[in-house]
Amino acid sequence: MSRIGVAGGTGLTGRHVVDALRRSGHEAVVLSRASGVDLVAGAGLADALRGATAVIDVTNTPAADPDDARAFFGAVTRNLLTVVPDFAQKIPPQRHLRVMPGRAGSS
Ligand SMILES: NC(=O)c1ccc[n+]([C@@H]2O[C@H](COP(=O)([O-])OP(=O)(O)OC[C@H]3O[C@@H](n4cnc5c(N)ncnc54)[C@H](OP(=O)(O)O)[C@@H]3O)[C@@H](O)[C@H]2O)c1
Repeated sequence: MSRIGVAGGTGLTGRHVVDALRRSGHEAVVLSRASGVDLVAGAGLADALRGATAVIDVTNTPAADPDDARAFFGAVTRNLLTVVPDFAQKIPPQRHLRVMPGRAGSS
């Protein structure tokens, strides 16, 4: 069993990812504002990801402006990769970041 963070785990896509992980016997940790984690600010992220070996990123933003969308996804990805040094540096062989494709305004 792995402890896996699901960024956006309360969303349309994320809740299915959380269900699938739990059905497979993994510990899915929901990373969303509703669960006390702000991925743009990075608040709550370090505590939530302690002991995690992977993150699946299925966040989204309602931002219509491409610059705002890029800023959102950039901040989320930066925080997932760098705000949590334990996750980003101490377990590189097990580290994975999966990002759901199909985001308008992201690259
Ligand atoms: N839905 C589709 O049909 C579909 C199809 C193809 C691809 N996709 C892609 O899948 C991804 C997810 O889309 P979705 O439709 O599932 O999104 P969604 O339903 O809008 O969910 C967005 C998720 O992001 C979280 N979130 C937003 N801002 C946050 C913040 N500042 N900090 C922490 N969490 C935050 C939300 O939780 P909180 O509000 O609680 O923070 C929510 O869990 C996107 O990249 C989208 O392009 C979706």
